[in-house]
Amino acid sequence: MKLSFYGHSCFSVEIMGKKILFDPFISYNELASAIDINGIEADYIFLSHGHADHIADAIAIANRTGAKVVANWEIHEWLNKQGIQNTHPMNTGGKWTFDFGTVKAVVAQHSSGLPDGSYGGNPLGFVFMSEAGNFYYSGDTGLTLDMQLIPIWAKLNFAILPIGDNFTMDVSDAIKCAEFIDCKKIVGVHYNTFGFIKIDTEAAQSAFKSAGKSLLLPGIGETVEI
Ligand code: NI
Ligand code: MN
Repeated sequence: MKLSFYGHSCFSVEIMGKKILFDPFISYNELASAIDINGIEADYIFLSHGHADHIADAIAIANRTGAKVVANWEIHEWLNKQGIQNTHPMNTGGKWTFDFGTVKAVVAQHSSGLPDGSYGGNPLGFVFMSEAGNFYYSGDTGLTLDMQLIPIWAKLNFAILPIGDNFTMDVSDAIKCAEFIDCKKIVGVHYNTFGFIKIDTEAAQSAFKSAGKSLLLPGIGETVEI
């Protein structure tokens, strides 16, 4: 699988020939000023929750690409009202088989209000299962015991976890999460974008290494084979 990082919690994974974009927040992210949202291709856009730092560019990219947007019920309805009709609603605990594989929506412990104050439902994480491999994107979340359920559903090749603290897990909780989900290869997101979530990335990588796990921190605009 190929993973491209676009800053903050925005990344895309290419599986089974489909480009799947997550939580687009690019044009408002100073650190991602080199990325042109008009150059990003997407067959699907998955939204973990309604906060602006996860959906700010979703409508623009969905309009241009025609990508199917997958999110919880309330965000799906909100998108429909904004004129985005190609959506797929999910909710916690459910799964659906798309043309690239199956996705299970899982618990995330966070909040989800939309930028205009609309109710954004519950935040979600996603477990992707495909012939190319399996991965988990937790979305914004604290460490939760529910993560221990994930190995029952999928043997993960990698996971994308927030590590920036303050709003989400910090590095040590992300390491504990990696144990809960039985996964050695973690891509860190949701760090360094704003003052509240600035971290020491070298210390983070050595903490993962000491725990027998690897923390990948691709540069903004970088694509890695994973
Ligand atoms: Ni959030
Ligand atoms: Mn966030």
